[in-house]
Amino acid sequence: MRRWAHHTFGGPEVLQLAEARRPEPGEGEILLRVHAAGVNPVDALTRRGLALQPGEPPYVPGWDSSGTVEAVGDGVTRFRAGDEVFGMSAGGAYAEYLTAPADAFAPKPAGLSHVEAAAAPAATLTAWQALVLLGRVGPGHKVLVHAAAGGVGHLAVQIAKERGAFVYGTARAAGHDFLRALGVDEPIDYTTDDFVAVARDVDVALDLVGGEYGPRTLATLVPGGLLVTAIVWDTGFGKTAAKVAGVRFAPLQVAPSGEQLGEIAALLADGRVRVHVDSVLPFEQAKEAMERVATRRTRGKVALDMTA
Ligand SMILES: NC(=O)c1ccc[n+]([C@@H]2O[C@H](COP(=O)([O-])OP(=O)(O)OC[C@H]3O[C@@H](n4cnc5c(N)ncnc54)[C@H](OP(=O)(O)O)[C@@H]3O)[C@@H](O)[C@H]2O)c1
Repeated sequence: MRRWAHHTFGGPEVLQLAEARRPEPGEGEILLRVHAAGVNPVDALTRRGLALQPGEPPYVPGWDSSGTVEAVGDGVTRFRAGDEVFGMSAGGAYAEYLTAPADAFAPKPAGLSHVEAAAAPAATLTAWQALVLLGRVGPGHKVLVHAAAGGVGHLAVQIAKERGAFVYGTARAAGHDFLRALGVDEPIDYTTDDFVAVARDVDVALDLVGGEYGPRTLATLVPGGLLVTAIVWDTGFGKTAAKVAGVRFAPLQVAPSGEQLGEIAALLADGRVRVHVDSVLPFEQAKEAMERVATRRTRGKVALDMTA
């Protein structure tokens, strides 16, 4: 099989497309024939050595995949060969085949293409774990989503709306029609407006930007409100500042879960949540796809199509 891999850390040049032996599924694992892989900001960060990469080199990027189960390891009863599934694994998706724990995968909704399904896992799970599991967002809550036009943000907005919340979202003005179409009640142009002056009495905020956004977002929260940040390398300010402000603070590192993905799949299946695919590139253009995401200017998700 072919796969993208790097042995050292650095720019796009460290990543090589090469032949490798097709892996065998271990106990509790599936062997997936990958039809599409999602591209996330963490892929380029990992390649540059700035994010934790589990295991030993060679490192194969890619957390998100969708494809067909080719074989299952001992103890797997959840799936069998021929099933179409999508899920999140700790690397390995920029390859024609991958092995991963079966319990990190869920059946792919039939109406979704493999590209759409591959674009969903890490971003939807991040939004789900932030807003549903940590935030317990419900009807009447006010939610603030930063980087609302991005991969995680555009899905977080839809999940918050699905749960009956009022949603503020930050994005450049050029993306505000997109935000409104997703359901954002009040888009905020962060290049001209101070989000602290606009977003009021927020129950749950999701920070997908970092830097000054975290500490400044605390001022938008109601007493006891919650700031969840996915910018886990930028949380030093949090605990003490939140305590002083009388609010709560939770750094989030997304965790794989086929069970949660099954709940999310139900929302994707009937269109209550839609994955917006910014661009799809062929497998051979993985480097370009990573660089495109690294601009932090894409709208929704970027994916690699192995079958293109
Ligand atoms: N901890 C975890 O488990 C976890 C999981 C997933 C993601 N993350 C992190 O969360 C962040 C977001 O991920 P993502 O996949 O959603 O990224 P993404 O898709 O690359 O985000 C791109 C979006 O960010 C927006 N943006 C850029 N700068 C902004 C700013 N200053 N204010 C508001 N919006 C801004 C852009 O909108 P405009 O063009 O309108 O500016 C663009 O649409 C990344 O840093 C990623 O590494 C962490």
